[in-house]
Parts: sequence; C-alpha cells; structure tokens
Amino acid sequence: MASAGRNLLVLHFLALASLSIFCTDTAFSIRIPDRASNTPGELSDRSLKTAVFALGSFWRSEAVFGCLNGVVRTTAGYAGGSKINPEYRSLGDHAESVMIEYDPKEINFRQLLEFFWSSHDPRQVFGQGPDVGNQYRSIIFTNGTEEARLATMSQEREQAKSRTSFVTTQIQQLQSFYPAEPEHQKFELKRHPLLLQLIGNLPEEELEISTLAAKLNGYAAELCPQRIQKQIDAKINEIIRRGWPVLTDV
Ligand SMILES: *[C@@H]1O[C@H](CO)[C@@H](O)[C@H](O)[C@H]1NC(C)=O
Repeated sequence: MASAGRNLLVLHFLALASLSIFCTDTAFSIRIPDRASNTPGELSDRSLKTAVFALGSFWRSEAVFGCLNGVVRTTAGYAGGSKINPEYRSLGDHAESVMIEYDPKEINFRQLLEFFWSSHDPRQVFGQGPDVGNQYRSIIFTNGTEEARLATMSQEREQAKSRTSFVTTQIQQLQSFYPAEPEHQKFELKRHPLLLQLIGNLPEEELEISTLAAKLNGYAAELCPQRIQKQIDAKINEIIRRGWPVLTDV
C-alpha cells in the first residue's frame, strides 16, 4: 500500500508536468464516449447480471468492486431496509450498499462472494473500522435460491475459519436498491481531478455508467488488486510519455 501510494503521487506529479507542457485548454474539453459501457450489441445490458453487497462505507465498497475484470458498472446506494426513497442524511434502516453489474462470462457470483469476504471484516459488529452504525452493516443480497445457497455456503466457510467470534454478515433477498445521490457516486475518483481529466471530464451521467470510471475509482482508492493497480499505472504512464492526456481504456 505504502509504495502504491507513492507511485500514485509520483504519477500525479508527472502527469501534471506533462499536462502543463502538452495541453491546451481545448484538449481538456474533448470528451471520449465510454465505449466499454456504451457499445450496443455485443455487451448489451441483457447479458449482464446484477449483484448487491453492503460492506461498510459505500464510497469504499464501490471502489473495492470497480476494478475487477468483468465488472461493467458500479453504483453506490441504499438497500436492506424498508424506508422509501432514503437519502444520505436520512437513510432509515438501510445499509450503504454497492450495486455491481457484471458480465457473467468473465466473473461469477461465487467469485464476487470471495472478493466480498476478503475485502472487509465481517466480524466487526455493525461497522467497518471507524465507521460504526447500522448503516455500515455487512449484507449479501441474493436473487433466487441458487444465489442464496452459494451465499450461505460461503458464509459457513468464512465462519469455519475461526470460532472465536461470529461472522455478523446478513443474507437477504434483495428487495429494493436506491441509487445514492450523485455526489456519492465514484467518490474516490472525484477526489483525483487529474484522473477525471485523463478520461475527458465526463459529465456526471456518463461517469456513473462508465466501466472505465468504475475501474479508476478503485485505482484512485488504491483498492485494486496489486496486479491491476500496476497495470493501470503502466497505462497512465504510457499516456503521459506520449503526451496526449486521454485515457480511453485500461
Ligand atoms: C433476478 O434474477 C432474475 C432471473 O435470473 C432476473 O431476471 C432479474 O433481473 C434478477 N434481478 C436482479 C435485481 O438482479
């Protein structure tokens, strides 16, 4: 983590230097449509599957899943409660959650479950780290009996790793998922204006559905698996070397 953090900083310095040398203001206004998420046909929405998890702050949850290959879109939101139209400051009995749209040919529910378990502490009661409260509880949302079975099996495996404390994760049939307010979407990416520039300063509605933005959101939070983190580093470095600050794909 420490060295990845340094890389990101160095990168930003280099990119800033490079941008100031090679870019005119007009370059920043070029917008590249996000082909990865908008191409019709081959990857139509019909072929995608959806999964929802709660594992603490949704800023982090969205970043955790965004970098996985096969994940096409991520959305931060509220689920697991009964309040109609929850909002950030009044989310009622909901948990902060992430909705993941994925290509089942590239990644499956079982793999998402493994990643869910390894990406948070399911034994902390109603919270993750300093984020304590009902809204940060751990939940696997399922759709149908097969997913419920896989979720239960994975939870039993997780519990079997140690009997000194309980795995607190709940397993629930998904009822409603309410997308969170725009300022909570791709939150980690938005803290890095330079990365936003590299993908052409997409307007909010494009950012929210962009596969690339989902990946970079994970990268910005340094939550991608090490290999993917390095791969994106390399890609961005290449762009900087060429002096053309538009990233269309990682
Ligand atoms: C639940 O599964 C059914 C059948 O596989 C599917 O049609 C539906 O879109 C799924 N719902 C969600 C929210 O993923």
